[in-house]
Amino acid sequence: MAIGFQFILTLFSLFSVPSLTFAFAPILPRFPSSAVSAELKQRSHSSQNGLYRTKFFTQILDHFNFNPQSNHTFQQRYLINDTFWGGAKNNAPIFVYTGNEGNIEWFTQNTGFMFENAPSFQALLVFIEHRFYGKSIPFGGNKTVAYANTSTLGYLSSTQALADYAALIIDLKKNLSATDSPVVVFGGSYGGMLAAWFRMKYPHVAIGALASSAPILHFMGMVSPDIFISIITQDFRSESENCYKVIKGSWDLIDDTANKPGGMELLRKTFRICKSDDFGPDSLEGWLRAAWIYTAMTDYPTPSNFLNPLPAYPVKKMCEAIDSSVTGNNRLAKLYAAANVYYNYTGKATCFDLDDNSDPHDLGGWQWQACTEMIMPVGGSNKESIFPEYEWSYEARASWCDFFYNVQPRPHWITTEFGGHAIERVLKRSASNIIFFNGLRDPWSAGGVLKTISKTIVAIVAKKGAHHVDLRYSSKEDPQWLKDVRKQEVNIIASWISQYHQDLQSNS
Ligand SMILES: *[C@@H]1O[C@H](CO)[C@@H](O)[C@H](O)[C@H]1NC(C)=O
Ligand SMILES: *[C@@H]1O[C@H](CO)[C@@H](O)[C@H](O)[C@H]1NC(C)=O
Ligand SMILES: *[C@@H]1O[C@H](CO)[C@@H](O)[C@H](O)[C@H]1NC(C)=O
Ligand SMILES: *[C@@H]1O[C@H](CO)[C@@H](O)[C@H](O)[C@H]1NC(C)=O
Ligand SMILES: *[C@@H]1O[C@H](CO)[C@@H](O)[C@H](O)[C@H]1NC(C)=O
Ligand SMILES: *[C@@H]1O[C@H](CO)[C@@H](O)[C@H](O)[C@H]1NC(C)=O
Repeated sequence: MAIGFQFILTLFSLFSVPSLTFAFAPILPRFPSSAVSAELKQRSHSSQNGLYRTKFFTQILDHFNFNPQSNHTFQQRYLINDTFWGGAKNNAPIFVYTGNEGNIEWFTQNTGFMFENAPSFQALLVFIEHRFYGKSIPFGGNKTVAYANTSTLGYLSSTQALADYAALIIDLKKNLSATDSPVVVFGGSYGGMLAAWFRMKYPHVAIGALASSAPILHFMGMVSPDIFISIITQDFRSESENCYKVIKGSWDLIDDTANKPGGMELLRKTFRICKSDDFGPDSLEGWLRAAWIYTAMTDYPTPSNFLNPLPAYPVKKMCEAIDSSVTGNNRLAKLYAAANVYYNYTGKATCFDLDDNSDPHDLGGWQWQACTEMIMPVGGSNKESIFPEYEWSYEARASWCDFFYNVQPRPHWITTEFGGHAIERVLKRSASNIIFFNGLRDPWSAGGVLKTISKTIVAIVAKKGAHHVDLRYSSKEDPQWLKDVRKQEVNIIASWISQYHQDLQSNS
């Protein structure tokens, strides 16, 4: 088994990322060259035209420093939809999405829940882009400058982002003469972490938070570094033992094949790789690993198109491809067929480009976050794992970050700033009105809040759920458990708002 530098980097890229960020792009091809990009374009086109208006807000670069040199500002993008809003006079609610590590327009496809419930709540919808992502780039909007080095990237942090959200929301409410309109924040993945933290830190700005698949406990000392991959292993294994065995055995198989005369050519041909400058077992394995991981994360009960277009229950589809008798005993052909579910569901890919390191959703900044405060230990695996045995190492992360950014992580800053240890004891006394949703098929659920903490801090756990499935647009084919989850969430949010209005009226 080749556990080299690449392997570590690939793990780093894959596993540091709640919302499917590809931190270290060079080793991680994602999209079959031509096929998906056309769909992506179409999608962002339609959202621009129909779902919201785009605005910019002059934001302070450094909320925590009064040094006159730190008075820089930048343009922060937010999206707004007031079609359903009941208005300031009625103190109608404002639903705010606390943007994640990427282009905010892309995340609006994860906000079907907000769009679909806006009419009944008469809610104003606002989606705020996270600083340093999408079009919200400090230092004059020039990404090259903003990402140049530590002295500029230093302003990319979760605490600054939360302060941005607070400042923007307060100013927006003032502009709308809606100071008494209750704000509920929503987020999925890292955005869900931000939503939960926002409610804890800014209770005077948001009356409640729906934090979906928010691994706020996935930090050092609170979670086993192996559990992320254990969940992925279980996802595949629960479909079929053979499927698990074929994938588990694939790493040795690929290494062995590569070592045989003509083996590299065979691999290249079997997997239809047309482009890969340093094609070898490592790049191929990284490509396959990405397919298994992201499919496990997005194992939704209906067809989806988050990273790549996928069928309903894609893990099952992969295992069906592996178990199929069509490929007989040819294990490489079986792996290719399973990878096709992730990389070629549209059937439009002519071949695969392992060098494609484009970043259409602009997720690259996560790498910096994963090198500073987001030290989320994932990527360890054990004998039972579907991936080769591997020990997660903080030192490896730290030295990579030193090498790449010249920065030292602060692995305990997040728990210092937001807490996490003994969360039940702490939050039941200090917080309220948070929903933590988790789907147990999602590897990130390991770091989620899975137990209800108090009457108003409620954990909703769906055994068959995947990464923030509740926030997605609903569909006729949704299973009953998913409809029930959403209904429960709606009822809880409605109760927060009605309590708020009662308090407002009685001035209590
Ligand atoms: C708000 O979203 C709805 C779809 O849910 C859309 O029909 C409407 O045009 C949008 N409004 C604005 C102002 O973009
Ligand atoms: C920032 O501070 C400098 C020096 O005090 C001042 O010249 C400049 O106008 C300020 N810029 C902004 C945007 O306030
Ligand atoms: C961004 O900054 C870089 C480095 O200073 C410069 O080369 C580039 O032209 C700038 N890009 C734009 C669009 O201004
Ligand atoms: C970081 O980049 C900026 C802009 O290119 C430059 O002015 C500054 O000297 C650099 N700082 C460090 C620490 O390299
Ligand atoms: C509020 O209005 C001011 C003045 O028009 C504007 O500069 C600012 O960007 C607005 N705030 C938001 C959040 O849009
Ligand atoms: C993608 O799927 C289509 C339809 O099944 C198939 O014809 C094509 O060969 C596949 N592309 C690759 C690169 O495997």
